[in-house]
Formats: sequence, C-alpha cells, structure tokens
Amino acid sequence: MTSEILIVGKGIAGMTSAIYLTELRPDIQITLIDKSDGSSSATFFAQGGLAAVQSTLDSFDSHYRDTLEAGHFLNDPKIVREVVTRAPEVIQDLSSWGVSWDRFEDGRLNLGLEGGHSFSRIVHHGDQSGKIIHQQVASKLRNYPNIQLIEHSAVRDLWVEEGECKGVIVYQEDLSQEMTIPSQTVILATGGLSSIFPRSTNAQNSTGDGLAIALRAGVKTGDLPWVQFHPTVLNIGSTDHSNLLTEALRGADAYIINEKGSRFLFDSLSKGELSTRDLVCEAIWREIAKDPNSNAYLDCRHFPKGTMIRSFPQVYSLCQRANLDPEKDLLPILPAAHYHCGGISTDRTGKTSLPRLYAVGEVARTGLHGCNRLASNSIIEALVFAKNAAAALALEHRKESANSYQLDTRKIYSPDIFGQPSVIDFWKESLFEYFMKKSKPEFGSLQEIRDRLQILELSVERGIYSTTILKERNLLQIYEALLIFNKNECVHDFPYQKNRI
Ligand code: SIN
Repeated sequence: MTSEILIVGKGIAGMTSAIYLTELRPDIQITLIDKSDGSSSATFFAQGGLAAVQSTLDSFDSHYRDTLEAGHFLNDPKIVREVVTRAPEVIQDLSSWGVSWDRFEDGRLNLGLEGGHSFSRIVHHGDQSGKIIHQQVASKLRNYPNIQLIEHSAVRDLWVEEGECKGVIVYQEDLSQEMTIPSQTVILATGGLSSIFPRSTNAQNSTGDGLAIALRAGVKTGDLPWVQFHPTVLNIGSTDHSNLLTEALRGADAYIINEKGSRFLFDSLSKGELSTRDLVCEAIWREIAKDPNSNAYLDCRHFPKGTMIRSFPQVYSLCQRANLDPEKDLLPILPAAHYHCGGISTDRTGKTSLPRLYAVGEVARTGLHGCNRLASNSIIEALVFAKNAAAALALEHRKESANSYQLDTRKIYSPDIFGQPSVIDFWKESLFEYFMKKSKPEFGSLQEIRDRLQILELSVERGIYSTTILKERNLLQIYEALLIFNKNECVHDFPYQKNRI
C-alpha cells in the first residue's frame, strides 16, 4: 500500500480535498480514511445549504458584514473576504459535479433566507442539502483510481518524528490491529466535537477526534471554547442528531413563541427569529429559565397548506415520527450543540503549526467564524479551504521513493475491563450547564481528568484498548483543554461574548 497524501475524514472537507487535489495532480496517491463510512458526517445531516451572493441586489460587502456581525467581529476579516467572494465559485464546482439546487421554473436559483443574513442567499436542495451534496461528491470520488478508501478505521494518533508529521496510527477494530501508515502529508478533516455535550445536532460519533489528536501532538489550536448551539432542535426527549428543525424554517417565516403564544424574541432582539443563533439561543434559554416547566416552540401553523411537505420534507417526516403535525401542532424546541467555531489553527491553505499536517473543515480554526458562525457558512468554508489546500499541495508535493511508505502493524488486545466511562456523562452535563445556563458548573478537577487520561494512555501504549477507550480518551483530551481555558479565566462569558465587540 502506498500513500503520499493521507486524508482523515470522509465528510465534505475530506472528500473535496481529495477531488480538488487529484484534479490538479492525478499522479499523487491519496488515501482517505474514515472511522465509519462517512455517512454520519455533519455534512450528511446539514439541512440548510450554502451561503453565497447570487443576485444583483445582494453584494459581497453585505455577506462580509453579516459574517463579521454574527461572529461579534472576532473573525479574521481577510479570511471572511476571501471565503464570501469565492463562495459562488465553489458552489459552481459542486454544480459541475452534478449537485442540483432548488430552482424556480425559469431556472433561477430559489434562494433561502436564514438568521443573520441581510439577503436571501442560501443555495439549497430542499431541506436535505447536505445529504445530496454528500452522495454526489462520494460518487464522484469513486471515479479516481489514485484515491484509496479505508473505512471503519479510526485514526488513533499522528505519527510525529523529528518535529514533522510522518503519518498516522490507525486502529481497525474488526481486525484487532493497529497500523502505522506513513504519508508525506496528512490532512485532518474529522469534523466537530458536538458529542462533548449531551444534546447535539450531529451524529454521536462527533467526538472531536482530529482536535484531540492534534492537541496530543502539540499542534496550535485556537478559539476552543467557541461552540455554536442551534436554537431550534425538536425537544422530544431523545438526543438524536436528526431532530434539527432547520433555520430555513424561520427564514420562511416560522415563529418562536412561549407558552403564552408571544413572540418573546422581539422583547430583546429587533430582528426576532432572524437574529443570529447565539442571540436566539440565549433568549430561549432566558425565557424557559423563568419557569422550568415551560417550553419554547417553533410555530409553523400559519404556513400555506402543503409548504412543509413540499419544501421541508425531512423536517416533516421527523415531526411525523414524533407524532406532531407541523401544520397543526406547536413544535417544542431546545438548543443543542451544533458547530465548533474554534479548532486547529490554520493559515488560508489549511497549513497547521506542525510541518506536513493540514486541517480543513470544522476541525480547523480558520478565522472565518469569530465566536459564532453565520448560518450556512460552513460548507463554503470547507470547500474554499479544501481547494486552497489542494492548490498548495499540488505545487509543493514532491515524489519520494516508494519504500518510504512501508506499513507497520501490531495486534491490539481489547478486553472488556474498562467499564462504562461514567466520567464522560458527568462532564457532558457540566459543560452543557456551563454553555447554556452560564452558571458556574460543578466541574471535576483537572487532576481527575489527567489521572484518567494517564491510565488510558498507558493502556493505549501497551496495545490494550478498544473503540470505546479511544473515544473516551479523545473526549477527555478536549475536556482537559477546555478546563485549562477555564482555569486561565479565558472563557468567562462564552459563548456569547458580546462585550468583546
Ligand atoms: C440549519 O439548517 O439550520 C443548519 C445549517 C447550518 O448550520 O448552517
């Protein structure tokens, strides 16, 4: 097996990095590794779409300003400018790869509106944009003989030697084996970390793997406490990732109301339901905190008949499964973790502080989002950075002799001796309290985490571990990083740092 460029993660960032690169340099052997088959990536569940200026009434300046405002001006203005001006170009790339979008009969794009946007500029495919993009890009990927897929294989750690990334160490549970795969360059495209919270819009396996791996390797990270919560997640007890009620519903005029039927967001927010997510979450939380037995609701009952099933089929079937009819019933909502704005620090080509390591997509902290991402800015970010990384690598990559790609393997013993990682449940709840209620949480001590990490580390070193252990190790690694921030008092008001504008 040979790998010259190894990409970890088969979401939109990983797959498009591979495609962009191979279109420039078909001579490079690329390996794409995923711990599942990629169909549980955040891309797959994205309902909204891609924000991009598409009409003459709109302007790049406006998209730029909206992005900065949503991010409380903690964004990197240069990066914001680049991403918003190149958004139409990467959407065109997707179109040329066969992705279709909602259009009017005359062929014009049917653009959606979402919170924080001054214009309708969301290019979308019903409320299933992510799934359609994922399927189309995944099928394109199969056309390239030089892209090798390895699925159901979890990257345990980076292989770092002489201050450089030399490859990855991969765990294959089915084979009870660990492989060290050398590679000239590694791109982390592992997505976010929403599973550090008890409620999230992402799949359960969104365990911050890439970030944890980078933290262990001493790679520079940034804005770690800036996690975005999504305000409208159907509150039906379960924490299933598919409970998201897309923000596009509010763009189509859905209301958020309290028990009395009042659109309470307008009490504090002039843009009401079309305010940015952080502000909407905060107002919802404040409202329901007044009475612990109360709920906030999304109200779509005034939509013209048939709109839900026609324009929001995914949401409609979610409601049906919960025995709710959005044309007649109020939809109870509660915020849930949605997106990590911080992550591994990169430059505009995805380069990290560790030579030969790149990071692209949600795992990266590019500076685009500030402390709160503007709706539908994530897929365009992933695409622009995947394209930039591919262009940089296409120029830099030099062929080396084949024997630099020797694989190394060892057997892994996975006895069931570790028990349930209950420490994780405790941390999840504490962090949720901290983010949502802004109350001082009952955190365990840093020492407690470090003691547990040390045990796990020793065990991994000796080749005695399992997928559960790797997941716990990654989550604890991130809790440790967040707790260090907390100890340094860097995160007093997070995630709503309004005073810092
Ligand atoms: C949504 O559809 O509300 C989510 C889209 C996004 O996170 O940008």
